[in-house]
Amino acid sequence: MLLFRERIPADWLPKVLAHLPAVLVDHAHLERKAATTALNLEKYRDLYGRVDELNAIAIEELQHFQLVLQLLRARGIPFGQPFPSPWISGLMRSVRNGQRHQVIDHLICCALIEGRSCEKFQVLSRELAEIDAELATFYGSLVESEGNHYAAYLLMARAVDDAETDRRLDFYLDLDAQLIRQGSPTPILH
Ligand SMILES: [Fe+2]
Ligand SMILES: [Fe+2]
Repeated sequence: MLLFRERIPADWLPKVLAHLPAVLVDHAHLERKAATTALNLEKYRDLYGRVDELNAIAIEELQHFQLVLQLLRARGIPFGQPFPSPWISGLMRSVRNGQRHQVIDHLICCALIEGRSCEKFQVLSRELAEIDAELATFYGSLVESEGNHYAAYLLMARAVDDAETDRRLDFYLDLDAQLIRQGSPTPILH
């Protein structure tokens, strides 16, 4: 179902496992940003008819945010500052201006972020099973929801302009592959 052209780099998992508390703080911010992003998409004329659907995604992301905050509290990890993600800012830098171009690019970026989350949560759920069963179950419980968000954003883009979505998806999948190979200096999910 996921269309990615490049695998998650081999050094991603060991780095995440070695810095789980920092990664959980980063994850909390990721869910917070996912909630605000769903609300921000409601500014586009082409998505006025999707306002209920986008609100539902925002509510779900806010629930995820709360769940990560509960985990942080239970583990005595303080909520802290977010790390910037070169991968996310690299994707977002390529969002074009112009009402229709912008909404399609923005939706595709959101879809890829949700898709990579879905993929990485699946890996974490499997790899943490022996190390941290609670966290493994938690990540497993988020996989379906993030996969649904990935599909929902792609469908929204296709409903605006199917052919343009295909063209831009081709561009963004190459960009994702190029950016993900570069990795990040900090212990973050993306
Ligand atoms: Fe989420
Ligand atoms: Fe999501």
